Amino acid sequence: MINSKLPNVGTTIFTRMSQLAGECGALNLSQGFPDFDGPPALREAVGRHVAAGHNQYAPMTGLPALREQVAAKIARCYGRTVDADSEVTITPGATEAIFCAIQALIQPGDEVIVFDPCYDSYEPSVQLAGGHCRHVPLTLPDFAIDWQVLSDALSAKTRLIILNSPHNPSGALISRDQLDRLAELIRGRDLYLISDEVYEHLVFDGVRHASVLAHEELYRRAWVVSSFGKTYHVTGWKTGYVVAPPTLSAELRKVHQYVNFCGVTPLQWALADFMAEQPAHVEALPAFYQAKRDLFCDLLIDSRFALARAPGTYFQLVDYSAIRDDLEDVAMAEWLTREHGVASIPVSVFYQQPPKDLRLVRLCFAKREDTLRQAAQRLCAV
Ligand SMILES: Cc1ncc(COP(=O)(O)O)c(C=O)c1O
Repeated sequence: MINSKLPNVGTTIFTRMSQLAGECGALNLSQGFPDFDGPPALREAVGRHVAAGHNQYAPMTGLPALREQVAAKIARCYGRTVDADSEVTITPGATEAIFCAIQALIQPGDEVIVFDPCYDSYEPSVQLAGGHCRHVPLTLPDFAIDWQVLSDALSAKTRLIILNSPHNPSGALISRDQLDRLAELIRGRDLYLISDEVYEHLVFDGVRHASVLAHEELYRRAWVVSSFGKTYHVTGWKTGYVVAPPTLSAELRKVHQYVNFCGVTPLQWALADFMAEQPAHVEALPAFYQAKRDLFCDLLIDSRFALARAPGTYFQLVDYSAIRDDLEDVAMAEWLTREHGVASIPVSVFYQQPPKDLRLVRLCFAKREDTLRQAAQRLCAV
């Protein structure tokens, strides 16, 4: 028998809920992916590049043309000039970038601060590096940082803080003021940041995303991670990138070259072409997803679910305490799938220790209008 390095890890709730949705013929609003396709020009570009023979290994750090497009986008969106050669690395998904940054930094016994609820890949990656996660709960109902709790959680062993804004599962955003406060708190300490910004372009109601890339002081000690999968509606392409100062990029690349070596070549060519041809795609994303959020939330007004509109991401949390307060959220998500044909994700799975009376499930609204209408109709009947 293998002595498991991840004894507490089983099949994730995302796989389980998607399976259950399939078995029950339910609408799948659980896992975070669109039920519509990415832009036709982007998909066509892949075929073109495959036909043109772009089918061998890409450079380890990513295709230069794509790294340059990423650098150009960062200059446009966040006003930072990054060097495409030494600061931008293309990875097979944001997940690989996060994993490599953690392996590059964390030594046995180091502590990593994560904010609960948090994305599920962080902790196993820290454990594999021999580190230990300190879970700092965000305050309800706004999923905000409690600065006292964060400050108390910092110790001489803390080497890394993992930020995620816009935040999965809540949609909450970190503001520029909060980044300033964080900078003040960690000034003079020997610790680093991973800023998981995979939903950077899904920020609503006219708010601007406060990226660590736009924060001079924090960027100096950060790996900032994003995902083409989220931005271009192609999550199955598992292509992302990480931007960091040259020394941090160099350390991450040492790991990346032995984990995957490089991302998928024709996908990188296609993304580079599309980004050059349609830079406005990212500018249209907030309105595109806000319309979906608003449609979905408006349709749920007559339901017995309570909600506050998500400020970002493509996830909407709904509170079901007026419906089945007797059920914990995992049971509720299963009940909703089996009895009402809508699959969701229970929010407690994103916690080390969920609050006792948490009655929230997460619904993904990256769906076609007819899917959202059908789902809302079913939810209004609950
Ligand atoms: C917060 C967060 N980080 C990272 C990822 C992973 O992105 P990718 O599919 O590019 O690996 C996801 C995907 O759901 C996510 O929600």
